[in-house]
Amino acid sequence: MTIEPPCASVALTGVRKSFGSLDVIHGIDLAIDEGEFVIFVGPSGCGKSTLLRMIAGLEEVTDGEIAIKGRDVTDLDPSDRGIAMVFQSYALYPHMSVRDNLAFGLTMSRTDAAEIDRRVSQASAILKIAHLLDRRPGQLSGGQRQRVAIGRAIVRKPDVFLFDEPLSNLDAELRVSMRIEIARLHRELGNTMIYVTHDQTEAMTLADRIVILRDGRIEQVGTPREVYEDPANTFVAGFIGSPRMNLLQATWVDRDRIRIGDTALEAPALQANFAGNTTVTFGVRPEHLQLSESCEQGMPAIVEFSEYLGSTRYVYCRLADGQTITIEHRTDFDPKNGSTVALSMTAGRCFVFDDQGLRLR
Ligand SMILES: Nc1ncnc2c1ncn2[C@@H]1O[C@H](COP(=O)(O)OP(=O)(O)OP(=O)(O)O)[C@@H](O)[C@H]1O
Ligand SMILES: [Mg+2]
Repeated sequence: MTIEPPCASVALTGVRKSFGSLDVIHGIDLAIDEGEFVIFVGPSGCGKSTLLRMIAGLEEVTDGEIAIKGRDVTDLDPSDRGIAMVFQSYALYPHMSVRDNLAFGLTMSRTDAAEIDRRVSQASAILKIAHLLDRRPGQLSGGQRQRVAIGRAIVRKPDVFLFDEPLSNLDAELRVSMRIEIARLHRELGNTMIYVTHDQTEAMTLADRIVILRDGRIEQVGTPREVYEDPANTFVAGFIGSPRMNLLQATWVDRDRIRIGDTALEAPALQANFAGNTTVTFGVRPEHLQLSESCEQGMPAIVEFSEYLGSTRYVYCRLADGQTITIEHRTDFDPKNGSTVALSMTAGRCFVFDDQGLRLR
């Protein structure tokens, strides 16, 4: 008996993209499992949409290979790849009813009429748009239009769904409810999904794994928990999490101590070789800092201002050496602007990065 090696749902090997002389994707290797929900995040212009469009076949690959379900699709037309893409702009046909919008792709590929009816009613039931089938897109709300756009992808029964910022045109409340809908959809359909977003909450809540991109390169791939709790470098540390991680200039003075300004702190236990008095970046998230009135213990800081958000408070402070630091503060103590406070840190929650920004472990 031979056992087939499990083949990835989507596999990118050495994928590059240049627009003329501009290199935007610099060689991406990534394997996405069957049924996995993978989210691409990264700053504007880092190449998220370009990468997704290459997987979809809407953009040619300059170099490298794309395989879907073990089949090389690098040179195939979008319609032959077993994918369906949902765009931010919905891209619905304004003069057609919702029903015809949903059916359009199937009609074009000459699917049998009874089968089209079956798939359209199934998709509209899943998305709760059955009562809207006779309307035109202009007679729908933004959220309803986005459901139709997703429905159009569902009826095609693709192997892989591709989403490019599908919720970014919706208001905050609708985004939250659509986000929950998409999570439910993924549970029900079980398909592989690749999803581009700017929204940290979407990335953290929807993804099985998050791919963090910068300037056309992958900085880290991991579960939401891994990228949050175990960032590989200062870029990922600063990108994931809001408010962002405090990244402070520091000196690693001896095995056990790190100095920030004049304050010596206990260094986290590191395997890395100690080279003596090296410049490092010390990372600590706002929620892992505590602030107290008593100035006897901890790192002294001056409160510059604070933001009251009800359940929590963000306090922005300046350290003695001039660096700023953000603290998420949840006790009743209300620090006054200009007052001196003492900061302490949750043990085991601090990070050290070398002068290239790479994590020291
Ligand atoms: N057709 C094109 N011709 C030339 N350059 C392009 C083209 N499409 C994209 N680019 C460039 O490629 C880079 C990546 O663009 P891309 O749209 O993939 O970024 P993105 O990560 O999706 O950004 P955003 O978050 O703003 O949507 C950018 O520098 C962009 O200007
Ligand atoms: Mg984009």
